[in-house]
Amino acid sequence: MCGIIGFCRTSEMWVAPSLDSAAPVVPLVGAMHQTLIANHAAGISVPIASPLVLEGLRRLEYRGYDSAGIASVDNGSLLVRKDIGAIAEVDALQQLGLMPGTIAVGHTRWATHGSVTQANAHPHTDMAGRVVVVHNGIIENYEELRDGLHAEGIVFRSDTDSEVIPQLFARELGDGCATLEEAVRLVCPRLQGPYAFVVLSAHDGGTMIGVRKGNPLVVGFSDHGVFLSSDVLAFSEHARWMVSLTDGEMAIVTSSGVRFLNPDGVEVVKIPSMVDCVWADVGRDGYGHYMLKEILEQPSVVSRCGHGDNDLLVDAALAILGARQVVFTACGTSRHASLIGRYFFSKVARQFSDVVMASEFGYFAASLNSQTVVIAVSQSGETADVIAGVKLAKEAGARVVSVVNRPSCVLAEMGDYLVKLGCGAEIGVAATKTFTGQISLFYLLAHAMVNKLQLGRSNLEQAGILLHELLQGLGDGLEPLALRLRDREHLYYIGRGVNFAVAMEGALKMKEISYIHAEGMPAGELKHGTLALIEKGTPVVAICPNDETHAETISNAMEAKVRGAYVIGVSDVESRVFDHWIRMPAVSSLLYPIIAVAPLQLFAYHMALARGCDPDRPRNLAKSVTVK
Ligand code: G6P
Repeated sequence: MCGIIGFCRTSEMWVAPSLDSAAPVVPLVGAMHQTLIANHAAGISVPIASPLVLEGLRRLEYRGYDSAGIASVDNGSLLVRKDIGAIAEVDALQQLGLMPGTIAVGHTRWATHGSVTQANAHPHTDMAGRVVVVHNGIIENYEELRDGLHAEGIVFRSDTDSEVIPQLFARELGDGCATLEEAVRLVCPRLQGPYAFVVLSAHDGGTMIGVRKGNPLVVGFSDHGVFLSSDVLAFSEHARWMVSLTDGEMAIVTSSGVRFLNPDGVEVVKIPSMVDCVWADVGRDGYGHYMLKEILEQPSVVSRCGHGDNDLLVDAALAILGARQVVFTACGTSRHASLIGRYFFSKVARQFSDVVMASEFGYFAASLNSQTVVIAVSQSGETADVIAGVKLAKEAGARVVSVVNRPSCVLAEMGDYLVKLGCGAEIGVAATKTFTGQISLFYLLAHAMVNKLQLGRSNLEQAGILLHELLQGLGDGLEPLALRLRDREHLYYIGRGVNFAVAMEGALKMKEISYIHAEGMPAGELKHGTLALIEKGTPVVAICPNDETHAETISNAMEAKVRGAYVIGVSDVESRVFDHWIRMPAVSSLLYPIIAVAPLQLFAYHMALARGCDPDRPRNLAKSVTVK
């Protein structure tokens, strides 16, 4: 839910293995002192670190945008600048990118413990300003730790859980006998809950240490220094090589290089991999918003899913087919995609499955066993509720299929089977293209279960082409519709069967980015309460393609219309019940969700613009929710 980054200029240049893709990747990292060559020529002035940290923060802003800050070390002193607001605002106030020093850490915050204030913004220091920490996650026992430190006379400046970390480090550093590395090793076992942090000390010209437990932390190698960050996106413009830390590992970075220690404190060698360029490609390509760009990318996402790795899909499909019980667990948009996956499994492969929202999963864990397959679905691969559920599933002996989009993430490491979406980075906070990627993948998995993967792939290919054609002309009709409806207070979305989850997703998009109350539901449920809320002009969006659900959904829309509803039909066939028709192409019935969701995403997008909201940075919503 927060983004962290650190950068340290190194006095020697990092030399990567040949970038010829055929060349093997050699184990350079960890043996860095042997493989680094050629000191920078003496006398060349060393550039400062803060501009790169600031740039990294901008690329991490999707993880949190209520406050930001940077700390650097210059001439043995720590400097900290931080404030509330988006990164551009904090930079304008505090000149973050002009901070001196060749080593710096930065943070972009999404408040969990402690409200949005300057004091609660990161980085946090100890009382004497000797160490500074940027932290992502939750220190669950922070109250107990804080009380203990308080009793020793330590004064806290913020209301955050994070501040206990630098205060504990300073306590262990004592009068200077212990090194920062020793202090970190003593403190980490005392911190409960998931975390990733980077600590920077002014000692010895600056030492930066990164540790993770549960939350991601990756190390990037550029020609001029070493990055630590919660996401490879932060440094992908500068570093071509990276490694991911695993739980309990420590990266120790100084001006002469980086060392890695395992949880027992033993130095280890880690094998770098190349930064994935598709993932690194995060420009807006001339579009005003990432969300629009990502909506329009969906046809290529569908087609890319159709060309994924056969073996991984088939392995996962066989495990699902062989299980006694199959349970999806996910949150938000990923949960809506899972609801569609559930229909695919049933219709195509006759495999029953259930979907349990991740925040409720723990309460169902009693019935999990070794005959269970849990399909954990998460774009980010770091949603805390999903990860907690997967831990329980593994303890119960269940097998886990991880379905993720981010290439290096905690959930990917936890799965017995891993299926990667390959949608590329999704920056818009409200998920769009990854929803379509997830349902395309479930479509393929269902076909793989019945040995019809090839058929699934060619159907998807067709759907991608039709989606492309649809997206070409959609904006013209949706913009005026948004202008007409922008002042409505409530919207209802209905659909049946595989289209009901599309209704839920359409409503979620509307709520997330335009702040209008919107509810999605199975069309048949409308008459069990919600109909009482329909008044003259209330918009009701009916997802009613020409499939087995069409006639009944139209009847439900009619029930709303006779009570005054303004009915917006999303269908390939017209109906007199529609006040506004969003026309979509005909496809085979199970593929309708892939086509139907795009107009709903675009409708929400135009509604947000019509109401003066920023679709890429919705209020009170973060891209990755790393707290329970
Ligand atoms: C947050 C995001 C949503 C996302 C949900 C689940 O609420 O704002 O867009 O659908 O988390 O995220 P995940 O990364 O687990 O798919």
